[in-house]
Amino acid sequence: MRKIKNFEDLEKLRKRIMNKRNSLKQTITICNGTGCHAYGCEKVTEAFKERAKEMNLDVDIRATGCHGFCERGPILVIQPDGVFYQRVKSEDVDEILSKTIKNKEIVEHLLYEDPLTKEKIIYDDKVPFYQKQKRIIFGNNGFIDPTKIEDYIAINGYEAFKKALQMMNQDEIIEEIKKSGLRGRGGAGFLTGKKWEICKKNSNGNTKYLICNCDEGDPGAYMDRSLLEGNPHSVIEGMLIGAYAIGAKEGFIYVRHEYPLAVKNATLAIAQAKKYGFLGESIMGTGFNFDIKIVRGAGAFVSGEETALISSIEGRIGEPRQRPPYPAIKGLWGKPTNINNVETWANVPFIIINGSNWYSKIGTETSKGTKIFSLVGKINNTGLVEVPMGITLQEIIYDIGGGIPGGKKFKAVQTGGPSGGCIPSELLNLPIDFEKLTEAGSMMGSGGMIVMDENTCMVDVAKYFMNFLRDESCGKCLSCREGTQRMWEILDKITEGKGTEEDLELLEELSEIVKDASMCGLGQTAPNPVLSTLRYFREEYQAHIIDKKCPAGVCKPLIRYYIDKDICVLQGHGCGVCQRNCPEEAISGEKKVAHEIDRLKCIKCGICMEVCKFDAVYIE
Ligand SMILES: Cc1cc2nc3c(=O)[nH]c(=O)nc-3n(C[C@H](O)[C@H](O)[C@H](O)COP(=O)(O)O)c2cc1C
Repeated sequence: MRKIKNFEDLEKLRKRIMNKRNSLKQTITICNGTGCHAYGCEKVTEAFKERAKEMNLDVDIRATGCHGFCERGPILVIQPDGVFYQRVKSEDVDEILSKTIKNKEIVEHLLYEDPLTKEKIIYDDKVPFYQKQKRIIFGNNGFIDPTKIEDYIAINGYEAFKKALQMMNQDEIIEEIKKSGLRGRGGAGFLTGKKWEICKKNSNGNTKYLICNCDEGDPGAYMDRSLLEGNPHSVIEGMLIGAYAIGAKEGFIYVRHEYPLAVKNATLAIAQAKKYGFLGESIMGTGFNFDIKIVRGAGAFVSGEETALISSIEGRIGEPRQRPPYPAIKGLWGKPTNINNVETWANVPFIIINGSNWYSKIGTETSKGTKIFSLVGKINNTGLVEVPMGITLQEIIYDIGGGIPGGKKFKAVQTGGPSGGCIPSELLNLPIDFEKLTEAGSMMGSGGMIVMDENTCMVDVAKYFMNFLRDESCGKCLSCREGTQRMWEILDKITEGKGTEEDLELLEELSEIVKDASMCGLGQTAPNPVLSTLRYFREEYQAHIIDKKCPAGVCKPLIRYYIDKDICVLQGHGCGVCQRNCPEEAISGEKKVAHEIDRLKCIKCGICMEVCKFDAVYIE
């Protein structure tokens, strides 16, 4: 491998890589993202490598980044045809190799079956989960091996950076990013080009820094992790373009230490980029110098806040400080610093290569481009989805997500991370963009989307998020430290059946104070889960307070389990399954006689309800 010393070298390198490749050669791409690791993709990948060799097959085996459809992992796609197999096990390897690779025969039992039509789907682009997505930023994850820079170069990697260096000056790049309308994907949605412009203007040629924020502390969110794991060079390329435009020589990727694969792949990618000469001194012979270091975060949610993150890189406690001055003016070690989210950086090469016009045609008036959401909770198709801004919640939850498991009713979706809000079923047709989510009492945040079904108690949900936030508050502001604690206590009291109507007023009052008096975004948005659930599900709070009931049957102190005597005898013939499974021996009854629960012994574990095949057990 020779270092790239000029633009022609890059062209030559790309040609060399492409000449060695045959685009028609069968390639088995196996998802090796974190989700598929949990399903054993490593074993499957190894088995493919071994058996293909033993069978002397001319096939490439490629361990790739996350394909998004985590629910169905390990995912495997055979290129160039795009044959899609799901839930693949090591035992399936021989069958795939001897049937599909050797004879182009399809292995039926590994195909995805549409749950509605029962149709078996052969090709990845026909799988409903992918059909409404627009996978620009995330799409290449499924094609490349993130540990091989050659794979990235083969898909035109570093071409946008070359274009920026060769054909654009700093202001033109910034103008292009501004015109594209790209807004930061880390939460606040600030215009990226504007931020770059401020940083460049205020630095007057002095030292300045770049940071990539991969702290991602939101429960249920893993899109930044998957992007950095699956396509680290796209993030590095975005940072290179930004560094050149702003005039920074040093950059940092801040990634939480619980993301070992992201750390490993990003570290490797930086080393490879240095070897090839994309990072370091006089990049591509232009005299432009830039280098990137990885900094591992200790895993506190508040450390994702930009000033806290900067403090953490400096080796101090990751606590936020008052803004202004913003990091673009006074950041890392007091120098102007531009901080952007992983997904924001990964957008940059696409804008430069395709132009701001192309980019700004995707999305809505105020929110351009696509957004990656992590779709989790009570949803059939758990995974990562990249969709154009402006798509409706209905389309995400039903067309892509496949609806709610067990035919249950959709109740709400929580967007925006722990301090986002809960959006009810009445707003399913809401087109998603930064403004629309805020108007609905929630926010975009970094893209967490937690789906809830009819068995979710919204008071309990608000309590869960408030518990997270009071724990994660750094405690610097009294309003946040004490306010979130006090709000959690009230919510706890309500779920215990001890709440009063005055508590609701106090919750609202506290929400306003915590919002207004807190210094950083954590406190300023912490009341969102409470306010949004009060706005859309007030009657549920009232049921807990006035009727002392939890309509969803979740809050233990307010629920009781009963056995319907008729069903138990007529349908179940007093089968005794509940009795045998009760850990407290709280159920009595003879065979063919209706069973009964002893309220004093019952610990409300719900096992009786789970095991009863006749739906004779109910909650009130
Ligand atoms: C409590 C808190 C946690 C945050 N966590 C993250 C995070 O994990 N990742 C991220 O990119 N931004 C996070 N942010 C937003 C950052 O402060 C900052 O706005 C963002 O990194 C800027 O990048 P962007 O303009 O590309 O969105 C957080 C903000 C707050 C208030």
